[in-house]
This record gives sequence, structure tokens and C-alpha cells, in this order.
Amino acid sequence: MRALIKNISKQFNNRDGTILKALEGVNLTISEGEFVAVVGRSGCGKSTLLNIVAGLLSASEGDVIFDELSDGNRPLTSVVFQDLALFPWRNVKKNITYGLEEQGAARETRNARARELIALVGLSGFENHYPHQLSGGMKQRAAIARAMAVNPELLLMDEPFSALDAQIRMDMQLELSRIYDTTGQSFLYITHYIPEAVFLADRVVVMGGKPGRILNIVPIHLPRPREEKVKVSPDFVNYLDLIWSEVRGKPQRLGADR
Ligand SMILES: Nc1ncnc2c1ncn2[C@@H]1O[C@H](COP(=O)(O)OP(=O)(O)O)[C@@H](O)[C@H]1O
Ligand SMILES: [Mg+2]
Repeated sequence: MRALIKNISKQFNNRDGTILKALEGVNLTISEGEFVAVVGRSGCGKSTLLNIVAGLLSASEGDVIFDELSDGNRPLTSVVFQDLALFPWRNVKKNITYGLEEQGAARETRNARARELIALVGLSGFENHYPHQLSGGMKQRAAIARAMAVNPELLLMDEPFSALDAQIRMDMQLELSRIYDTTGQSFLYITHYIPEAVFLADRVVVMGGKPGRILNIVPIHLPRPREEKVKVSPDFVNYLDLIWSEVRGKPQRLGADR
């Protein structure tokens, strides 16, 4: 699979007649098996971009093209949001198999896939628990498993760990990195938390400006599997510095041509 985001612009027409330009000229290609993270200040259009890639919003200009698909039967995308939408009346296993039921998958297939995913996200023993019986981190694990159950070509995540406590958030980053290493799933991952983006991604897309656009794309050459201790390595800190300065905006230099 390749997801080609081509020259996307988006404007919102407000009720009062004003126009808000949320995105302008966004170009990005996500390759098969690649983990792409997007960072940028609040309001720079990250969620708008993700929603367009998900097909939940239409672009004002440009296209999102999926090509080199591995299998025409796989859904293109599946989304995990910050405010997860687990069905409160379904237990963990039934939440995970929901999409498969919709697809008409046989019970045996659904159960096997649920077992596999429950083990993958570390929820073994909790398959019959209901969402209200789970901690925040466990709910997010279930939401990830549910999104992965339908085997999407590209998994979209919009600030999935933002509501979690710092320590649990770090655990979940490690867990997600491990899931990425084991599955080879392609990810488009949105966060405003730069260390999380650097820790997880193969490339970090820095967005900014009004209207939102891509300021820079930074390839992350840190070894995999990523371990917690990489966060104190000089390379990691250099990436943080670089991306921080991009997000803040570079100081204007006299005579610079842009
Ligand atoms: N449905 C909408 N109608 C009008 N404006 C919107 C809508 N959705 C987002 N916006 C505006 O578009 C800009 C980008 O929003 P968003 O994509 O949510 O940013 P981010 O996720 O980076 O915080 C913001 O100025 C926001 O207020
Ligand atoms: Mg957002």
C-alpha cells in the first residue's frame, strides 16, 4: 500500500460567512509498513488532515490516493481517536469483533482474530470485561485492537494517548512500538507531543502556520526495536531540538530569501 496525499487544501465555510483556511498544499506519501507521525501546534490542521485521509471529511482541493494495495478486500483505513468510542454495552472481545461482524466474517474467524489481537495488545484475561471495568490505558489497548481487527491498509491515530497519565502514556508508546514491530502495520499518527512522535516514527511531519501546511519532514534514524532508554540518547535529544525549533518557527534572518 501507498497513501498519496496530493496537494490537499481545506477550507471551512463558517456560518457567519467567513472562510477558515485549515490546510493548504499538503503533500505527503506514506509507504507500505511506514510509521509516519505528524506534530504541530494545536489548530494547525492535524485532525483535519487525518479526517480527510480517513474519508470522514472531503478536501476542498487535492486527492488522497491509495495505490499498490496488498489486497483489494482490506479496508483502506481505520481510526483510533483520543476520546475512544468503545461500545459500553459490548465486552472487550465483542468490541474487537464488531467490525468483523459488520463485514460478515464467520464466528470462528472473528474469535481467532480477537484472540490474536487481545494477546497482541496485552489484554489477555480481560476479554469478557466491559469498558467501564477497564483503566484508561486498557481501554486504549482495546480501541487499538478494535481498529486493527479489520486489518486496515493504514491505521490512523489522532492523539490516542493524550488523555492518559504520563507513566501510562510511556507504557503505551512502548507497547505501540512493539505492535508496529510485530505487525508491520502502516501508521499515520497524530500527536502534539514531540517526544512521542520521535520515539514512534520513521518520519516526523512538522505542520504549522495558518493555513496549516507542512513545514518540514524529519526522517528518524533510531534503531528498532525502540527501547525506553533511547529517549536519553544524544540522537533523540537532537531530534527533539530540531523539531522543536521547526514547530516554534525559525528566527527570521536578515537577507534570508524566505
Ligand atoms: N468543522 C469545522 N468547521 C470550522 N472550522 C473547523 C472545523 N474543524 C476544524 N476547524 C478549524 O480548522 C483549524 C484546524 O483544526 P484541527 O484540524 O482540529 O487542528 P489540530 O488537530 O491541529 O489541533 C482550526 O482553526 C479549527 O478551528
Ligand atoms: Mg486535533
